[in-house]
Amino acid sequence: MIDLGNNIKITVNNLTVSYNDAGSDESLVIIFIHGFPFNKSMWKKQVEALKNNYRVIAYDVRGHGSSEVGDEDFSIELFVKDLVNFMDALNIDRAILCGLSMGGYIALNAIANFPERFDALILSDTSCIADTPEAKEKRFMAIENIQKDGVEKFADESIKNLFAPESLSKKRIEIAAVRDMIVNTSKQTLYKTLRAFYERKETCSRLSEIKVPVLIMVGKEDNITPTATAMLMHENIKDSIIHIIDHAGHLSNMENSVEFNNLLTKFLPLIKDT
Ligand code: MLT
Repeated sequence: MIDLGNNIKITVNNLTVSYNDAGSDESLVIIFIHGFPFNKSMWKKQVEALKNNYRVIAYDVRGHGSSEVGDEDFSIELFVKDLVNFMDALNIDRAILCGLSMGGYIALNAIANFPERFDALILSDTSCIADTPEAKEKRFMAIENIQKDGVEKFADESIKNLFAPESLSKKRIEIAAVRDMIVNTSKQTLYKTLRAFYERKETCSRLSEIKVPVLIMVGKEDNITPTATAMLMHENIKDSIIHIIDHAGHLSNMENSVEFNNLLTKFLPLIKDT
């Protein structure tokens, strides 16, 4: 028996992690990892589309959504330790990971360090490259701006960069949902995660070790992790598949969920057959 439902609580690494679990425990397991500073609710449309055929789990990365923040400094390595211990706590031996942006940083680090735990990767709007000096400077500026002007202003500024120009006028519901996720993230989590990004190590040099099926998706107008970055990963992951998603910026799963879900549902049966 599995505990299907929403906002289920489990203790992982001494802190409470919140997750949604849908589908059947007979099926392949797909674990969705959200971007920063969002939460598991960003995957609502993907969970709906897949739950009849797969076991679909979306969890809140520590500090985000309803998961506790803990005392430790954040790092991608700590997020990976949380993920693997979360799988252990749920008795999940192997899973498919689908990560967007920060979720992709976690997925790439996870497969590099625990290749035996993952059957496939879906990498969306993410990157294997570490922060450049300019990107690091922007992280510090973001912390300063949040300290000075507050989270609401940070949310409004972020939204301009997250969505494609077309989505900014057409995707009112998604923009409101994203704003809500950002303003409900604690300042402590924002600072700790921005520092973790600053410290993040590259994973590009590990891409050639990936031996499982990989689908890479990126919004055509993603300014944060652009198409060239996705192409770099594609060129270095043997037999990976890449799709550029029209009418989308950085949040391709929300901005063009129809195309995103179509690509997912075409890719996943390839894994069943391997
Ligand atoms: C995300 O969506 O997770 C962030 O844009 C990642 C980042 O800022 O590097």
